[in-house]
Amino acid sequence: MSDRLFIFDTTLRDGEQVPGCQLNTVEKIEVAKALEELGVDVIEAGFPVSSPGDFKSVEEISKAVTWPTICALTRAVENDIRVAADALKYAKRKRIHTGIGTSDMHIKYKFNSTREEIIERAVAAVKYAKSFVEDVQFYAEDAGRTDNEYLARVVEAVVKAGATVINIPDTTGYCLPWEFREKIQYLVEHVDGIHNVVIATHCHNDLGMATANTISGIMGGARQAEVTINGIGERAGNTSLEEVVMTLRSHKELGIDTNINSRRITPISRLVSSLMNMPVQPNKAIVGRNAFAHSSGIHQDGVLKNRESYEIIDPNDVGIDENSIVLTARSGHAALKHRLQVLGVELDREALDKVYENFLKLADRKKEITDDDVLMLAGEHRENHRIKLDFLQVSSGVGIRSVASIGLLIAGERFEACASGNGPVDAAINAIKIIIRRQMLVKEFLIQAINKGSNDMGKVHMTVEYDGQHYYGFSANTDIIAASAEAFIDAINKFPV
Ligand code: KIV
Ligand code: ZN
Repeated sequence: MSDRLFIFDTTLRDGEQVPGCQLNTVEKIEVAKALEELGVDVIEAGFPVSSPGDFKSVEEISKAVTWPTICALTRAVENDIRVAADALKYAKRKRIHTGIGTSDMHIKYKFNSTREEIIERAVAAVKYAKSFVEDVQFYAEDAGRTDNEYLARVVEAVVKAGATVINIPDTTGYCLPWEFREKIQYLVEHVDGIHNVVIATHCHNDLGMATANTISGIMGGARQAEVTINGIGERAGNTSLEEVVMTLRSHKELGIDTNINSRRITPISRLVSSLMNMPVQPNKAIVGRNAFAHSSGIHQDGVLKNRESYEIIDPNDVGIDENSIVLTARSGHAALKHRLQVLGVELDREALDKVYENFLKLADRKKEITDDDVLMLAGEHRENHRIKLDFLQVSSGVGIRSVASIGLLIAGERFEACASGNGPVDAAINAIKIIIRRQMLVKEFLIQAINKGSNDMGKVHMTVEYDGQHYYGFSANTDIIAASAEAFIDAINKFPV
């Protein structure tokens, strides 16, 4: 019989803090329901005091989700805690996650405070949260760089104050695996009352050790792992759910398991990547496009003789259907619908017809339609732009300036302009700027191919500065100049009206 590890998913809080990954409430509910089906124990749904949008999302997710505990983040501040309790009012199971920085660095520079005062503030926050909910989780921010003796004093004080879960974040991703395990073990051995609470890990990936540190922390006695889908999160990200779950499944000798239905890992990975416009690196463990692709002849030969010669995980166990249908221009509605369902996307008849129409157009240009293409088409359907690209013609070459002529539909009316630039993308953007007369500056511009081959779709991520704010735009198209213009328009569509 295995020991149980609780999975606390923070894709919708730590993950959603990443620039360009913001979701609207409807999208967050879609992710939350997929997390529920996946079998996570706790969903950290947001930081309600941070914005009305976050408050609303926590409230709506609380209504939409039945089994997992819904958790809301706060600082050790009374108003944060009061607002979080209010946002959680509809949750069937609710938890407030409050805390404060405990490293000397945080105490001195962030709070201009003292160790004793920080303990007082931590205790007061936990007691105040307890007046609203029974389940209170305390985080000691930057615990990774907090000395163990002081950390144990903080933890003992908040356990006495009523905390039910103690979160030990390696906020800066600094710890080495053995060091992190010793930290957890130190708390297990030195804190009075620790056996009445659950210890949680929350590791960041700045040195690429988030999963190793999490597994070490579990071996040291932690029984909750804080994770995100695809490892998204602040800076280099958080520990990824799929890596922790599949490490424990692959190493049964550790005697620890989770409630996760691993066959739902690939669909949710794709759902999150598509909704957040955040590509998964091809060589990402478990969910990367190449995670189960054997390219060398020796490996292929070995796998054909016995899959286990080069694979430690059966792809079926993480929801990869090896016999999946390859979609082409000859595929029908049913095949597209099936593929979308496998990928976790449900569309009504009308929406499916629209996606199918675009699918056929794309299939005419590409030999094979991949899962990423299908998700992209489904994602496009969700959008309802105010400004649309009507036509774009660009002439460019070596030794000449590029020229673009462009047509935009704004509220159904067509506007046209022509401009030159130091490349085709620059020319197209200059032409758009002639029509949309605002002071806009492209701050970030990234083009990525989704798959291999010159007939592939290009994904464009763009950040545009307007009126002191940054707006994120995205598009995907087999024509990368068109994708760039569309991403620019996507960002413009997010400007306040
Ligand atoms: O990384 C961190 O310390 C956090 C806390 C707010 C839990 O995200
Ligand atoms: Zn974090």
